[in-house]
Amino acid sequence: MRLSTLLTQVPLACASQLDPTLGSTLNVTVLGARHNRSTLECWALQPGFETSTQPGTSGSSVLDLGAVQGNASFTAIPAEFDGGRHNAPALQWVVFLSGLAHITLPNSTAEAWIEGGKNGAILALDTADVSALGHYTVYPSKERTVALEVPLGKDGVPGHRVLHGGACQGDELLD
Ligand SMILES: *[C@@H]1O[C@H](CO)[C@@H](O)[C@H](O)[C@H]1NC(C)=O
Ligand SMILES: *[C@@H]1O[C@H](CO)[C@@H](O)[C@H](O)[C@H]1NC(C)=O
Ligand SMILES: *[C@@H]1O[C@H](CO)[C@@H](O)[C@H](O)[C@H]1NC(C)=O
Ligand SMILES: *[C@@H]1O[C@H](CO)[C@@H](O)[C@H](O)[C@H]1NC(C)=O
Repeated sequence: MRLSTLLTQVPLACASQLDPTLGSTLNVTVLGARHNRSTLECWALQPGFETSTQPGTSGSSVLDLGAVQGNASFTAIPAEFDGGRHNAPALQWVVFLSGLAHITLPNSTAEAWIEGGKNGAILALDTADVSALGHYTVYPSKERTVALEVPLGKDGVPGHRVLHGGACQGDELLD
């Protein structure tokens, strides 16, 4: 078959099949809090992927990240930076676009390694009113870590099912 024929038979724009390698939903690592301590959990966002009807992405998989509010920000963190111990400043999405974040909890062996890229979104919910000690973050990468912070609106914590304690990993992430 000639290439030109193939191209006319397989239109690029109108694929209406959901991507079968995508899984049913996005799983995200969550820095939460319980009993005044920060926690790490893996959440499966609900209701999960749906089929976009928006012009430009129609037929693609799309997932609602919940209501956001206020100013989003873009942070460029130098290579090999130590962010120290801190609380989430507000309930927010942190979307790592590049680099690497290593999150640990005081008085705990729990840890999360978040690589910048398609699996770079986490929820940071351990504000000072719910977690006395917060968490530690270091950025051990030799490249800059770049992140978007997007504050959640009122009732902005998205629907979810808790998969387990600890960070999401392996099969739970996009490949
Ligand atoms: C998220 O986790 C669920 C439950 O383990 C799994 O079915 C799904 O495929 C995962 N999503 C991705 C993108 O791996
Ligand atoms: C958002 O940014 C604008 C412009 O810098 C500023 O006036 C406003 O106070 C900010 N809003 C919040 C909620 O930080
Ligand atoms: C718990 O962590 C805090 C902050 O790192 C530290 O000051 C404290 O000594 C730790 N407590 C125990 C029992 O390890
Ligand atoms: C959390 O712990 C801090 C420090 O021990 C304490 O001051 C605060 O009242 C506690 N908060 C809650 C909600 O228990």
